[in-house]
Amino acid sequence: MDRNHVISAKDLSRADIETVLDRATEIKRDPPCRERHVDDLLALCFFEPSTRTHMSFETAIKRLGGDALDMGPVEASSATKGESLADTVRVVEGYADALVLRHPSEGAAMMASEFVDVPLINAGDGAGQHPTQTLLDLYTMREAAGGLTDLTVGIMGDLKYGRTVHSLAYALTKFDARQHFVSPESLSLPRSVRYDLHESGARLKEHTDLDAVLAELDVLYVTRIQRERFPDENEYRQVAGEYRIDAATLEQARDDCVVMHPLPRVDEIAPDVDATEHANYFAQAHNGVPVRMALLDLLLDGGER
Ligand code: CP
Repeated sequence: MDRNHVISAKDLSRADIETVLDRATEIKRDPPCRERHVDDLLALCFFEPSTRTHMSFETAIKRLGGDALDMGPVEASSATKGESLADTVRVVEGYADALVLRHPSEGAAMMASEFVDVPLINAGDGAGQHPTQTLLDLYTMREAAGGLTDLTVGIMGDLKYGRTVHSLAYALTKFDARQHFVSPESLSLPRSVRYDLHESGARLKEHTDLDAVLAELDVLYVTRIQRERFPDENEYRQVAGEYRIDAATLEQARDDCVVMHPLPRVDEIAPDVDATEHANYFAQAHNGVPVRMALLDLLLDGGER
């Protein structure tokens, strides 16, 4: 893998993705020698809340033998004094060997990457992209569904504001998956994403009803309605609570249908699904560690061992 910044799943080739997933598989089986990354420092700059992405990147660099340098809560940073994102990342790159950035503005990671030479990893930019979530999603699908070829994937929920959806759809297109998008019309895919998918030859269909496709799916990827991105709370209330699944819903699914969710969930997957064979979302979250270890390992030294 010879790229520097990781901004959008659109930029990752199928070979790049397979390189990271293969390395993650090796790491899970045989954790790498910690000496190799002992001098590596990873800066964590989170301008938006996070549990999984933040903690799994921190775990990943520490398990590789390096250390994390956390900007801390945005309220305690100099962003509150009016410092620009460009200036912040220009300063932080002098402290660390790579930088992980989460920001509420779509396009922020792309803009910031133009100001730094160390690898910058987009950990979520508003409703834009979340490419490392996609890497762990694909890793989980590969493990749980037995491969990434010939998959039929249903992606349900907030397709408009869900950055994990946008990244996943771009990546699944590279594996020629059949993609069924299920949402209320008001939360369907943004026009720009739909255009990109059509341009790249995606096999996609859009639905308002899960029943239309549930029985066909190898994977059902459920997402949260992104309340924080709605400009109008009333608009959120109109769709909140729709597209909820429970164990009874899954009686219509194939026995081997894998249910995933990037988490956090609110109420879109009922707790009674957790005890079924379908539930894979906690394993999915745990896969964030080996996958992010693999990515950091490759970015920090080109994967040379
Ligand atoms: N999936 C995900 O990005 O979770 P966090 O917001 O907790 O990082």
